[in-house]
Amino acid sequence: MSSDSPSAPNDLSAFWMPFTANRQFKSAPRMLVAAEGMHYTSADGRQILDGTAGLWCCNAGHKQPRIVEAIQKQAEELDYAPAFQMGHPKAFELATKLRDMAPDTIEHVFFTNSGSESVETALKIALAYHRARGDGTRTRLIGREKGYHGVNFGGISVGGIVSNRKFFGTLLAGVDHLPHTLLPENAFSRGLPEFGLDLAEDLERIIALHGADTIAAVIVEPVSGSAGVILPPRGYLQRLREITSQHGILLIFDEVITGFGRLGAPFGADYFGVTPDLITCAKGLTNGTIPMGAVLTTAAVHDAFMQGPENVIELFHGYTYSGNPIAAATGIATLETYREDGLFERAAELAPYWEEGLHSLRGLPHVIDIRNLGLIGAVELEPIPGKPTARAFQAFLDCFEKGVLIRTTGDIIAMSPPLIIEKEHIDQLFGTLRDVLKKLA
Ligand SMILES: Cc1ncc(COP(=O)(O)O)c(C=O)c1O
Repeated sequence: MSSDSPSAPNDLSAFWMPFTANRQFKSAPRMLVAAEGMHYTSADGRQILDGTAGLWCCNAGHKQPRIVEAIQKQAEELDYAPAFQMGHPKAFELATKLRDMAPDTIEHVFFTNSGSESVETALKIALAYHRARGDGTRTRLIGREKGYHGVNFGGISVGGIVSNRKFFGTLLAGVDHLPHTLLPENAFSRGLPEFGLDLAEDLERIIALHGADTIAAVIVEPVSGSAGVILPPRGYLQRLREITSQHGILLIFDEVITGFGRLGAPFGADYFGVTPDLITCAKGLTNGTIPMGAVLTTAAVHDAFMQGPENVIELFHGYTYSGNPIAAATGIATLETYREDGLFERAAELAPYWEEGLHSLRGLPHVIDIRNLGLIGAVELEPIPGKPTARAFQAFLDCFEKGVLIRTTGDIIAMSPPLIIEKEHIDQLFGTLRDVLKKLA
């Protein structure tokens, strides 16, 4: 490898890396230089089993031939078309495919470029929806403790992860939070936890405090991913839907992680049988290969905007790259791959095997909880006193050394493999983690 090859950069200083301990990383970099199927190739030529689908996004695995071909073809045919007051066929085609894949009540699709932008878009649509209907006092937004809704100002305001919020000033005004649902009595639950349904009733308290007529929307992740895999207690999401419907409040499901088969169904909304008014998604929409996100809405939400004169822009919002042709072509190829390869069904079929393997780690040193749903798994470790995050991060480093990519958040190890995973990969993933945990200080 030549010293100026991109796989062996000789200067790491210019790139300010996101959500990374930059100085620590640059003193001992972990570089990935290629990927195919279930594996990455590291700069030193090792095969690394992808236990995290990149960042919860490469659901169809890496270098999927149909997706690669779609990107190449589209780049040659139409690289870019203006997104405002102009159209191109692929964006419409993808929107239709997405609508067809989404729950029946979803009728419309607004394109963005990331999960964070999907969240901002959904929150703005919620506010503008009420205003369009003459209900302009509904300006409050309700999120949840430990929620992750990306990194933009709306998202961190409704989000509930303290480090993502505390450095950035006063955030959006008029935001309140539901309590999170991570309860010690649910430790080592398999699938959905039993206790904590009553936590949904807190929404009634918040509504009583502020008045329903001041609240625009409630936003939650059906399963919280980034805060360390936090599951909704049985019946919890149904109860949120009942309360929001009763009070004319929009319910937004942030499905950036749970969308596209992660739970063995197209969306978390399908898995839980609960239909929100808006769904945010990204990541798996394009298999992580080209940045793209979307907000899915019901006809009722969309139609509220379609009332004024027809020559007037109905929603003053959008991005230069909303529905970008290469992203749209990638999205089409991705959704076709999911359908034709039956990947959501595959995830559902593998989920019991995944659960079994994951929970076999119970009893290993420092393991204080294990959580799972669909092809999501988390192992929570007892923090080293005075050194939070250090123990799980060491497990991450040790697994990488042994050829397996996991992810950590705090002292929680999170895993979310591509849906093409085979049983032998599941055995390798949990077998490696077992070896690492046994030796961990
Ligand atoms: C639920 C949820 N919302 C939003 C986001 C933000 O997505 P992005 O990083 O694409 O902006 C994420 C990312 O992990 C997420 O998990």
